[in-house]
Amino acid sequence: MFPIIASHFLIEVLIDDEHNNVTEYIFEKIGVDLHRRPEHPIGILKNAILAYFDEKFGESSFSMFDDLHPVVTSYENFDSVLVPENHVSRSMNDTYYVTKEKVLRCHTSAHQLSLLKQGQRNFLVAGDVYRRDSIDATHFPVFHQMEGVRVFTKEELEKSDIPPAEFVSRELKDTLEGLALHLFGDVELRWVDAYFPFTEPSYELEIFFKGEWLEVLGCGVMQQTILRNASLNDEQAWAFGLGLERLAMVLFNIPDIRLFWTDDSRFTKQFEPDMFRSGGKDMRKFKSYSKYPPCFKDVSFWLPDDSNFTENSLCEIVRSVAGGLVEEVKLIDEFRNPKTGKVSNCFRITYRSMDRSLTDEEINELQASVRGQMVDKLGVSLR
Ligand code: DAH
Repeated sequence: MFPIIASHFLIEVLIDDEHNNVTEYIFEKIGVDLHRRPEHPIGILKNAILAYFDEKFGESSFSMFDDLHPVVTSYENFDSVLVPENHVSRSMNDTYYVTKEKVLRCHTSAHQLSLLKQGQRNFLVAGDVYRRDSIDATHFPVFHQMEGVRVFTKEELEKSDIPPAEFVSRELKDTLEGLALHLFGDVELRWVDAYFPFTEPSYELEIFFKGEWLEVLGCGVMQQTILRNASLNDEQAWAFGLGLERLAMVLFNIPDIRLFWTDDSRFTKQFEPDMFRSGGKDMRKFKSYSKYPPCFKDVSFWLPDDSNFTENSLCEIVRSVAGGLVEEVKLIDEFRNPKTGKVSNCFRITYRSMDRSLTDEEINELQASVRGQMVDKLGVSLR
């Protein structure tokens, strides 16, 4: 795997904090910076998006920030973009807390306000983001996002004879439709109304790709409160955010999100810095090498009476034990005993390595460790 950079000192300092729910497995991902590797699919896609903005608005009209540290204050991650006080995304079940006040950013939107305050106007942010989540082929607790913001001055807004909010909305849609066509070629597009606390109105852009509607990004007209907090009283802005893995999986035909983290040369050799072609048309697609067999292990248990058991907390344990060897964690059965009222769950854990065959012995050891930790940390009774 990749070298561990600069994260161990953090682990030692912070591991004692009662609010820290960041496992060592997650900490070790800090500093890997897949988005800063021009030969990696995440870096290739980031550069393809930057190239579109250079082409449309002129070289360097948008500043790129791709080295902002992922540990941010919970104020930056949530409050600065107007996420409500009681929003679920703030919970320790969804977000990695380093201390009570510091989190691993769960989106690149965390940087909007501070960059505006620093005087930035048109900018892109690319970075690693962190979310506690379920486990399957498209979800990994660390992934990468790209954010874009464009601010319009009073003068720019006054030049047009349509109302400012409408003007910004139109320019936003035009810019992002162009981006989708740049990335995916001549595809059908549609706009869907959405909700984000930091924009109003808010939209999602979808493309019809290989027979399915696929969400490409979220965006909208920036809430005036955010601009005012950056002392921009007469300006308006748009913003968007997108997930780089999801788009890279579709564009390059990559079947499992864990592959982004492999250093197996059968993967890495298939990518090179300038391989992106507009519309992915004659771009070489990733050719899967043969998969190794999966191994399924079921675990059944009774939930404790005062249960704060969650699927995310189970997934965190499985991740910290098995790392990249786990492919999926799935609830396959749930029932309540009518007499005792107790609830039983059965989860199926799929183990599979992307790079080699796993031995029975090694999987049994992983599974035993998962079962032990479920009892110790989640208080379940195994059946
Ligand atoms: N932060 C959002 C997310 O992680 C994505 C997003 C949506 C960013 C709309 C934006 C925006 O800047 O305007 O899901």
